[in-house]
Amino acid sequence: MNKEGQSTLSIEKSLIPLPPAERSALLQNPGFGRAFSDHMVTIRYTEGRGWHDGKVEARANLPLDPSTMVLHYAQEIFEGLKAYRLPQGGAALFRPDANARRFRNSAVRLAMAPLPDELFLESVHALVSEDRDWIPEAEGSALYLRPFMVATEAALGVKPASEYLYCVIASPVGSYFKGGAAGVTLWVSENYIRAAPGGTGEAKCGGNYAASLAAQAEAIRQGCDQVVFLDAVERKYVEELGGMNVFFVFEDGSIQTPPLGGTILPGITRDSLIVLARDLGITVREEPYSIDQWRADAASGRLTEAFACGTAAVVTPIGKVKGSSFEATIGDGGAGPVTTKLKAALLDIQNGRAEDRHGWLQRVF
Ligand code: PLP
Ligand code: COI
Repeated sequence: MNKEGQSTLSIEKSLIPLPPAERSALLQNPGFGRAFSDHMVTIRYTEGRGWHDGKVEARANLPLDPSTMVLHYAQEIFEGLKAYRLPQGGAALFRPDANARRFRNSAVRLAMAPLPDELFLESVHALVSEDRDWIPEAEGSALYLRPFMVATEAALGVKPASEYLYCVIASPVGSYFKGGAAGVTLWVSENYIRAAPGGTGEAKCGGNYAASLAAQAEAIRQGCDQVVFLDAVERKYVEELGGMNVFFVFEDGSIQTPPLGGTILPGITRDSLIVLARDLGITVREEPYSIDQWRADAASGRLTEAFACGTAAVVTPIGKVKGSSFEATIGDGGAGPVTTKLKAALLDIQNGRAEDRHGWLQRVF
């Protein structure tokens, strides 16, 4: 945005947008991250020159020299946020300012050039505006935006790159979990950890996800949907899932989630649910929870519900948790009343059906 409030991004419309009938077919049942809109945003960074050549352009392959640094040393960060259609017409983004801030923090941790928050916000607004016909209408669906940044300097020395490409793509999405979100089963990873103190756990960098894939593959082999990681030091306390934060609900109606201590992602959904739960008069604790306690509480009935949360997963009930020597069902294995209430409170705001008391929606058009 320049001083007059006009976009600093140039617009180059796609000459071959997907025909409307094909787009409508994709929007009916989009799945997660398989279909993509017509445009993307690209902005370049060069040391000494700053951010330049920002544009909204036709979605296309990225030309990369084989020595491009990100291909070798994984200097990469990303974000995930959604745009929702509003009942009165138009569309809004949910807490994009929080994504902009987290993206900047991730950049600092990965020794990359931090993108100014205003440019991040301008880029996501511009893409949603350009590809507005790609926002699906069905309940539970949205246009998922994936801003990311890669080191584009072509060189093999190990150092922070002097050139970066920031890019945003958009994908119409429905449920993250195949078969909806009735109650997922988690696999407790005993062989792998996700992040250690001093590592990159609180940054949203591709490397965290690459390192989680062997554990996630193990979970799938064990017939589970997602891996849940324990802390790296004591291998005792629950941290988070491969791509989601986790909450526990107790028989006294209180809820608990692992504290942010540098090793887990500070989820924006997590933060929003803490606020909404407190609005509803629910006691919320951000305190460590051990896997042994989880097993004991599931067996005694003290733990009545558990759920995963994230932009992609929204709020997904956890039905069961499995390890190499145990299996525990939580409550009746489905969505309990507290999970259902919190999910509805969040979705009602995101979809513009409830008053946005915290100013979380940013209208795009
Ligand atoms: N934890 C991990 C590892 C994630 O990948 C995500 C998803 O972004 C989350 C938590 C939830 O974060 P958010 O609610 O900001 O999407
Ligand atoms: C998100 O929720 O935005 C994520 O990045 C998580 C991943 C499972 C897609």
